[in-house]
Amino acid sequence: MAFIMEIVGVFLVLCFFSILLRWNELRYKKKGLPPGTMGWPVFGETIEFLKQGPNFMKNRSARYGSFFKSHLLGSPTIVSIDPELNRYILLNEAKGFVPGYPESMYNILGKGNIAAVHGSTHKYMRGALLYVISPTMIREQILPRIDEFMTDFLSNLDDQIIDIQEKTKEMAFLLSLKQIAGIGKSSSLADSLKTEYFQLVLGTISLPINLPGTNYRKGLQARKNMIRILSELLKERRESNETHKDVLGFLMARDENRHILSDEEIIDQVITLMYSGYETVSTTSMMILKYLHDNPKALEELRKEHLDIKERKKPNEPIDSNDIKSMRFTRAVILETTRLATVVNGVYRKTTQDMELNGYFIPKGWKIYVFTREINYDPLLYPDPLAFNPWRWMDKSLESHNYFLIFGRGTRLCPGKELGVNEISTFLHHFVTKYRWEEVGENKLVKFPRVQAPNGLHIRISSN
Ligand code: HEM
Repeated sequence: MAFIMEIVGVFLVLCFFSILLRWNELRYKKKGLPPGTMGWPVFGETIEFLKQGPNFMKNRSARYGSFFKSHLLGSPTIVSIDPELNRYILLNEAKGFVPGYPESMYNILGKGNIAAVHGSTHKYMRGALLYVISPTMIREQILPRIDEFMTDFLSNLDDQIIDIQEKTKEMAFLLSLKQIAGIGKSSSLADSLKTEYFQLVLGTISLPINLPGTNYRKGLQARKNMIRILSELLKERRESNETHKDVLGFLMARDENRHILSDEEIIDQVITLMYSGYETVSTTSMMILKYLHDNPKALEELRKEHLDIKERKKPNEPIDSNDIKSMRFTRAVILETTRLATVVNGVYRKTTQDMELNGYFIPKGWKIYVFTREINYDPLLYPDPLAFNPWRWMDKSLESHNYFLIFGRGTRLCPGKELGVNEISTFLHHFVTKYRWEEVGENKLVKFPRVQAPNGLHIRISSN
């Protein structure tokens, strides 16, 4: 009898779950939507997506094609893997494809964060950003600071075992402070901002559950604390009447030819700059050291490029823009690393109106996950796509083909690309001319949903 009850029990549970799944499918049933499945109520297919990563995309696209519906990270979502369509979406924000990142990101990074605004507000916010990281600003103000920072940050590392993941994260954070407000690594301001900043980053990648103890709640609090610290800094600068030739100084300048930013807008710009250049630069720097370690021929060529530059210069003479331009192989190594260790798997958009796309109906407010990762492994564009081959980028045309989407496209094309290249190139210059390194122990690396070494990437450093 107990056995029969057990079977009936299992049967009822299965019926319940299959009704739940069916009910969830019917909820989203609208004529003309792309094929695909919506998974469970609330969770959708998020767990499968995070667990299976790129394989989730492969399996779904094998079944439904390169344009399908799903329910990811709390929202009904269209996933687009089609390179042509992805390009179209990125180039046509004005047709109703505005950024659609998760709520936790917007609430913690602020309403004035560049990814939260569109139309004319986006135009002037982006204009202000492009101004403070323009080629002239990089050449005259920013690069000298980057070089000064790296000289100090990378000194005295010989005979040490370090976790290069932790080191490059600290580097990206402190480097942005140095450029934005000339804040040095040993100042108390850097210390207090660091604690808040790391908490803020954790909050942006958490579920938006505002309960005591959650990373989301802590992230919101960290934002408040950062605003307080930065407002104090703005006040001190105004009272001192000094002119500062750093990014903050330029954002605060009252130039009548430009839109004058409010304090809230200045602070949101500072947080945008810190956040956008953080994981992209730190992870790419870490992965470059990993790939170079595993590919001695590439390391040899890169080191030669930097030793030649060093030889041309006086002792301790800083790196300048002409040096960066001459680092052709270094640029190739950076691009190959961003291709293979994809930090930005795709970008999110949200429809501002009901629309027809690719012959399907897309309701207003649905997310579109423009999944650009797959194109980085296309054998037609990149023969032997899984091999680390920086030499392929020595042909400059590869950087301008239609499907080069590593730095986005259209009105949202990454404004920090060249700044990032300058930062990573200067890091490599100081690192490879001073040191050699070897990996210590087993270092696990995962590439999805984020590129990271869950237990750190440990290296033993010795002087060159
Ligand atoms: C390896 C380095 C980097 C990669 C791969 C990268 C990638 C990207 C991508 C794919 C986008 C497009 C996002 C979208 O369309 O929604 C983007 C936008 C952006 N990036 Fe980068 N990025 C890098 C470095 C940087 C750095 C160093 C900065 C620092 C200033 C930066 C600042 C930004 C900003 C502010 C945006 C938003 C632009 C807008 O919405 O108009 N990025 N980046």
